[in-house]
This record gives sequence, structure tokens and C-alpha cells, in this order.
Amino acid sequence: MTSAAEVSAPYGSGPGEPKTPAKRVRIHHLQELKDRGEPWPMLTAYDVYTAELFDEAGIPVLLVGDSASNNVYGYDTSLPVTVDELIPLVRSVTRAAKRSLVVADLPFGSYQVSVEQAVTTAVRFMKEGRAHAVKLEGGRHFAPHVEAIVNAGIPVMAHVGFTPQSEHQLGGYRVQGRRDGFDAVLADAHAVQEAGAFAVVLEMVTSEVAKKITHELRVPTVGIGAGPDTDAQVLVWQDMVGLRRGRAPRFVKRYADVAGVLSGAARAFADDVRNRQFPAAEHTFH
Ligand code: KIV
Repeated sequence: MTSAAEVSAPYGSGPGEPKTPAKRVRIHHLQELKDRGEPWPMLTAYDVYTAELFDEAGIPVLLVGDSASNNVYGYDTSLPVTVDELIPLVRSVTRAAKRSLVVADLPFGSYQVSVEQAVTTAVRFMKEGRAHAVKLEGGRHFAPHVEAIVNAGIPVMAHVGFTPQSEHQLGGYRVQGRRDGFDAVLADAHAVQEAGAFAVVLEMVTSEVAKKITHELRVPTVGIGAGPDTDAQVLVWQDMVGLRRGRAPRFVKRYADVAGVLSGAARAFADDVRNRQFPAAEHTFH
């Protein structure tokens, strides 16, 4: 029997109260937020300091995304990153996150081969990365993989709509769910929910299809480029704080200019060294 205390919301919600969860966020807390109509934020994290900051900021879910392929390892797509490259990042995030639920992304090639491969890879992320859940891309065709992982006792976040691991199959970064794609995205979302996914990421889909899916699904939807009606919103942290430069996708909002701050700090340090201003007396041992 579950007590009321065990199912209470993980976040303070009084006026001026920090949005600090009192305990580890669990998948049932996310379901409760959907049931109460309260939207929640999710961010990627790939290292200890960002994980610590985002955890303290009250971000309930941290995703160690395969977007590390671009944002950590510098590849041009999400395809090359491997399980062995991602597991140490997952471990550093789970070490740092006291309350956030940490989701590890299964990278391209680590689950598509078979249901058995999917379970084996998910188990590695749980055992070696100490993740709390895994995420995989794919709809109807991957429902058996989702079901098998869930049956192994591992919560699965699914990801439908635009799925970056299939960018070559999908013909590049294209909004999904338009015209005849509408029913396909809807069917994918329903299939992964029925397979046992606890949440479904909707990436780059029309706001119309996202709204309908969010209304029809029992489990929370997490939007990225899916409009305002999903239950949660996720962004890649380097996009969110303006660390990644250049033209951002339309769905990104930049909340800071971290690239400017870092660049300014590096230039100031270089000037100080060249002008013998650093180290000063207070930085020096005698
Ligand atoms: O890898 C990732 O960062 C993702 C999010 C964009 C949802 O899959």
C-alpha cells in the first residue's frame, strides 16, 4: 500500500518557495504533474557541474541525451556517439543529481538490432551509468523494444516525431505530423504508451498533432519544437544558455549569453597574463 506521503508532489509550490524537490523525483511524480495539469521542465546535462546546478534549480528530469554526440564530442550528427562514450557522462550526472530523475539516451545502433540488444544496452546504462530510466527513439516499430525493457524493470521514455537518429531516412531536419504524417505520429505515440513508456518526447511536430497526442495520452508528453500544449518542455542546455553559437533552431529560446561570458573571461585572463596583472599578491604563496 502506498502512503500519501510517498505520492505527494516532489516540489514546493508555495509563494516564493524555492522549487526544490524534497526527495528523488520518480516517474509517478511526473504522472501526478500531468494529472494536475502542471507543466514541468526538462534539460539535457552531460557533466557534474551542470547536473548539480540544474538539480538545485528544481529541474525534475535531466536527460543525458545522445545530443552529447554534437554538444560534447563535436560530431556533426547524433549518429556516431557510442554507449561507451555516453556511460561515463551518465555516471557523472547521476553522481551529481540529488533529486532529479536522470534519463539516459540509448544511442544509434545500441537497440535497433533486436529486442535483446535493447534490453542489454538499457541494463548497461542502469548498472554502469546508474541511470534511473532510459530513452529511445522510435514509435510503432519499437513498441516491442519498449515493452521488453519495461518488463526488465527499467522505465522507458519514448521519442517520436522527428527522431534525429533517423535523419537520413527522414530526409533531414523536417517538421513531422503535417498532412498525411499526422496519423503516423499519433499512432507512434499511442503504440509506445501501450508498450509501457512512462513519457513520450515529441520532437519537431506541429502544435496541432502535439496538442491532440497530449490530450489523448494518459502519460506525459515532453515537447521540443512541439508548441505550447505538451505536458513538459525540454531543451538542450547549451542552446538554452546560449553557449552554442550560430543560428539556433526556431524552437530554442536563449535565456543567457554564456558564450559571451566565457569568451569575455578568457580574453580578460589572457590580457591579465600578458600585462603581468595575474597572478596578483592575493593569488601568491609566500
Ligand atoms: O538527445 C537529446 O538531447 C534529445 C532531446 C533533444 C530530447 O533527445
